[in-house]
Amino acid sequence: EHSLLGLKDLSAAEISSILDRAAYWESRTEKKTPILKDCFVANMFFENSTRTRFSFEMAEKRLGAEVLNFAAAASSVEKGESIYDTVRTLESMGIDAGVIRLKPNGLLADLAQRVSVPLINAGDGNNEHPTQALLDLYTMRKHFGELKGLKVSIIGDIKHSRVARSNLWALQKFGAEVKFCAPPSMQAPELAVHAPYVPMEEALCADVVMMLRVQLERHAEGLLKSADQYRLEYGLTEERAALLPPHVIIMHPAPVNRNVEIDDLVVEHTQSRIFQQMSNGVPVRMAVMERALK
Ligand code: CP
Repeated sequence: EHSLLGLKDLSAAEISSILDRAAYWESRTEKKTPILKDCFVANMFFENSTRTRFSFEMAEKRLGAEVLNFAAAASSVEKGESIYDTVRTLESMGIDAGVIRLKPNGLLADLAQRVSVPLINAGDGNNEHPTQALLDLYTMRKHFGELKGLKVSIIGDIKHSRVARSNLWALQKFGAEVKFCAPPSMQAPELAVHAPYVPMEEALCADVVMMLRVQLERHAEGLLKSADQYRLEYGLTEERAALLPPHVIIMHPAPVNRNVEIDDLVVEHTQSRIFQQMSNGVPVRMAVMERALK
């Protein structure tokens, strides 16, 4: 049973072994290695996705798995069927593993206990997004060689971010130094015991500047009063990016709100690793699917 529900409860050794295996998959030149050819995998997205959904599908197909794609909007969820009944339905048809994205917090652990196939968390509420953080760590490790001692600033909508949480838990296991920066309305006070909230100038003194998307879809109405004001106070503007020393890398899980948390031209800045993060998501998810099914 190799579910992946989060990184909080995974050891540094387990995370390292996934990252090492991802490096192996990245090094392979053949497009397909059919080691999962006898496996059926369901991608169950109860919340929208582009990157996670397609990079899981790419990873599964590169490993030769049979892939079933489930989109809540085109399913009986629209008739009121529960998430549990949906997953049990697919399980009863014979899937070997499920990749699942959920809007609510707190459902996944219970769900994983009630079904017998491994479940891979593709993002649950603002709780965890483990494969995103794995690909983020992979990207950092690839650039800097190791994670120990790395200064990582996570800037933006911490409160609504599962990416911030998964990165925090994982980075600290490797001895990286995490700092947060967020406007008061987007801070998660319960995380302050784990990492300090610092002003923007201090946050920019880091090795990794990780910008977060303002999660408008998870906001109570009117939380972002002015996108322009947010950009001026917390955005990675062209001016701020120009002041970053050359060794610093810029990251963002995407999708980006261009000219809100990150300026248009900074997305493809020479120091940006945003599209490399997406590329790295495929070998990382190959390692995760192999771990779940082999
Ligand atoms: N980074 C990320 O999870 O993107 P999607 O929501 O498009 O999957």
